[in-house]
Amino acid sequence: MALISSTELFKKALNSDYAIGAFNVNNMEIVQGIADAAKAENAPVIMQVSAGARKYARPAYLLKLVEAALEDTGIDAVLHLDHGADFEICKSCVDDGFTSVMYDGSKHPFEENIRVTKQVVDYAHDHGVVVEAELGKLAGVEDAVHVAEREATFTDPDEAKEFVERTGVDSLAVAIGTSHGAYKFKGTPYLDFERLQKIHELIPNTPLVLHGASSVPQEFVEECNKYGGQVPGAQGVPESMIEEACKHGVCKVNVDTDLRLAMTASIRKVLSEHPEEFDPRKYMGPGRDAITAMVQHKIRDVLHTSGK
Ligand code: G3H
Ligand code: 13P
Ligand code: ZN
Repeated sequence: MALISSTELFKKALNSDYAIGAFNVNNMEIVQGIADAAKAENAPVIMQVSAGARKYARPAYLLKLVEAALEDTGIDAVLHLDHGADFEICKSCVDDGFTSVMYDGSKHPFEENIRVTKQVVDYAHDHGVVVEAELGKLAGVEDAVHVAEREATFTDPDEAKEFVERTGVDSLAVAIGTSHGAYKFKGTPYLDFERLQKIHELIPNTPLVLHGASSVPQEFVEECNKYGGQVPGAQGVPESMIEEACKHGVCKVNVDTDLRLAMTASIRKVLSEHPEEFDPRKYMGPGRDAITAMVQHKIRDVLHTSGK
C-alpha cells in the first residue's frame, strides 16, 4: 500500500520475458480502473502522469488520487512523470513525491540531452528517485515520408551506450518504430528488433522502455466508430511484437491510447443506447470498468505480469 521505486521491479523483469505496464492517468476513474486491475491480477504496475495530465487535473489531484487508490486497494505502485520536458518539471515531481521521473530530451542534440539528463539524474538520485531518459525520436506515420527517413530517427546503439555511461540514467526509452497515438503504421507494422537486440547487447544492465506501445485493438476502434466516433484507419503495434520486445531488455511498456479508446468506446455506447441518461456516474462507471478490463488484458495476456 505504498508508492514504490521501479528499481527492484525492473531488476527482475530485465532478464525475464515480461515487462511492467506503465499506464497513463488523467482522472479518478482511470486511476481506479488501473488500480483495480493490478489488484485483480496481483501484478506490479506503474501509473504515469504526463505534463498535459498534470495541467488538466491540476498537480495536487493525481498524486492524491493515486495515493487514495493504493489505500483503497492495498496495492503498491510506481508513480512516474511521463515525458518531462525540462529540469523544472522533473524537480517539481521529485519534490511532490513521485518515485520515478522521465526527462525527455529526445528532441535536443545529443550533448544537450546528456547535459540535462545528467542534471535530472543528480537531483533525482539525491532524493531517492529513479530517472528514465529517451534517445532517438518516435516518429509517427505522418512525420516521415520515407521508411529510410523514419529509420534515421531510430536510437543508435553506440550512442545509447555512451548516453547511459555518461548520464547514469536508470532506464532508457528507445525508438525502434513505435510512435504515440492511434495511427502508428500506414501499411504492415514494423519494429526494428535487430536494433533493439544490439542496444540490449551493448547495455545489458539498463532496462529499456517502449513508448507508443498501444495495440489499438480493432474491436474498440469499431465500437467507437459504430457509436458516432470518427477514428478511421487507426492501427497499433501487434501484441505479438510487444511480447517479442519484452524478451530483449524491454522492462516498461507504455500504454495510453488503448485506455482512451476503451473508455471512450464504452461511454459512447452507453450514451448512444441511453440518450435519456445524464447522470455522469452512469457512463463514467462503465468507462472505469472498460479501463479495468483493458489493463487486466494487458497484464495477463501481453505483458505476463499476473502474480508477479
Ligand atoms: O506520451 C504521450 C501520452 O499518451 C500522454 O499524452 O500528453 O496527451 O497527456 P498527453
Ligand atoms: P500510446 O499512444 O501508444 O498509448 O503510447 C503512450 C506512451 O508512450 C506514453 O508515454
Ligand atoms: Zn511516450
